[in-house]
Amino acid sequence: MWRLSVSIFLFSCLAVSSSSFGDSEATCSGIVPLRYRYDKISITDYGGVGDGRTVNTKAFRAAIYRIQHLKRRGGTLLYIPPGVYLTESFNLTSHMTLYLAKGAVIRAVQDTWNWPLIDPLPSYGRGRELPGGRYMSFIHGDGLRDVVITGQNGTIDGQGEVWWNMWRSRTLKYTRPNLIEFKDSKEIIISNVIFQNSPFWNIHPVYCSNVVIHHVTILAPQDSPNTDGIDPDSSYNVCIEDSYISTGDDLVAIKSGWDEYGIAYGRPSSNITIRRITGSSPFAGIAIGSETSGGIKNIVAEHITLSNMGVGVNIKTNIGRGGYIKNIKISDVYIDTAKYGIKIAGDTGDHPDENYNPNALPIVKGIHIKNVWGVNVRNAGSIQGLKGSPFTGICLSEINLHGSLNSYKTWKCSDVIGTSLKVSPWPCSELRTTGGSYSCSSTF
Ligand SMILES: *[C@@H]1O[C@H](CO)[C@@H](O)[C@H](O)[C@H]1NC(C)=O
Ligand SMILES: *[C@@H]1O[C@H](CO)[C@@H](O)[C@H](O)[C@H]1NC(C)=O
Ligand SMILES: *[C@@H]1O[C@H](CO)[C@@H](O)[C@H](O)[C@H]1NC(C)=O
Repeated sequence: MWRLSVSIFLFSCLAVSSSSFGDSEATCSGIVPLRYRYDKISITDYGGVGDGRTVNTKAFRAAIYRIQHLKRRGGTLLYIPPGVYLTESFNLTSHMTLYLAKGAVIRAVQDTWNWPLIDPLPSYGRGRELPGGRYMSFIHGDGLRDVVITGQNGTIDGQGEVWWNMWRSRTLKYTRPNLIEFKDSKEIIISNVIFQNSPFWNIHPVYCSNVVIHHVTILAPQDSPNTDGIDPDSSYNVCIEDSYISTGDDLVAIKSGWDEYGIAYGRPSSNITIRRITGSSPFAGIAIGSETSGGIKNIVAEHITLSNMGVGVNIKTNIGRGGYIKNIKISDVYIDTAKYGIKIAGDTGDHPDENYNPNALPIVKGIHIKNVWGVNVRNAGSIQGLKGSPFTGICLSEINLHGSLNSYKTWKCSDVIGTSLKVSPWPCSELRTTGGSYSCSSTF
């Protein structure tokens, strides 16, 4: 009975929110102009066979080589017809569209022994999982501009299970491949594609600008290790909208490098909008961190609908990271069932090596979280700053995080300064409003 009435309440709440918020139709997808490609080729013209058995690496490399070298005016569209195209990893090139028809699947081979290695990212100093280089992402773009991956919801399938099992049995030699990575690239659009079973993170734009990701579906089992959905990393002007993500790790996680390497590289993530994302994960819905060493600022996340989560909103960093997390605005988040509603923590994640600087404390300042509504949330919130660098300007308003009937808990806070307005359960004393000296709403 309780469950039933809760879901009716949640449903009516969602229905009201989608019609009553003026900005529910807002979009940032226009930051990268859509270009029509007059020149079109098909993977089958280059020997591609979609029988699920033929290895099509040569076909992909030949088709993309042709696009790169003929340089047709306005770029070229590479069409993938229905069928299952098995292939090794490949590089994209500038001014191209990878177009997956309905029923087209680009599927990664499982030859992990033969997978190409590339250099570690300078802002990480090593692979994220293991020292040394890292396996190249399945689909890779380095130094590109004007690239589109789209179509009629065809699938890019990483067949990640073999990699997850190597992680589980501790037999990995290097850091697992992402499903897609764009590095040092700009004017990227990814839309209307299904990503499934990535070996590691799904979509990783790093050192990029002007990236639009919308109407994508990202799927991986709940127990698949580190299958983050979308990880904008040291990138600016990123727009992520209208997508469904259900994976084994954070749905969207904004990052900017790791400890002394990230501090030295100094490339922030900024001006990132995340809007109308739905999903489920044993980790976080919207995450910032924990790699935050280049700084993270000017982030907006709104209209986020989550179910069966570890944490709804998770801001995470650590000593040794340096950098900052500032001007973060998160609003209109609906959570049905989670261990934590909101968690902001200064003790998350590991270090690349012993050379991190323990005095490099991150600055966390100006985090505004508004209109969060949760049912079946076991712990409403926890905000634990750092003794030598308290988190300041933490502002919570109109937050309702209901526990299930017998696990109603309060907030836990330490080393935090901020305000709260209409927060239930009643937040910790560090966040209690004191006579309206600071208005939360003025910043929204
Ligand atoms: C920030 O991103 C928005 C789109 O989300 C864009 O319209 C705006 O121009 C960007 N701001 C800057 C300073 O580039
Ligand atoms: C793909 O790009 C990577 C990184 O830029 C490079 O190391 C590799 O040689 C390229 N592979 C091919 C087949 O072009
Ligand atoms: C693809 O999937 C998205 C998300 O489910 C949906 O909004 C969109 O209409 C689909 N597009 C096509 C071309 O089928």
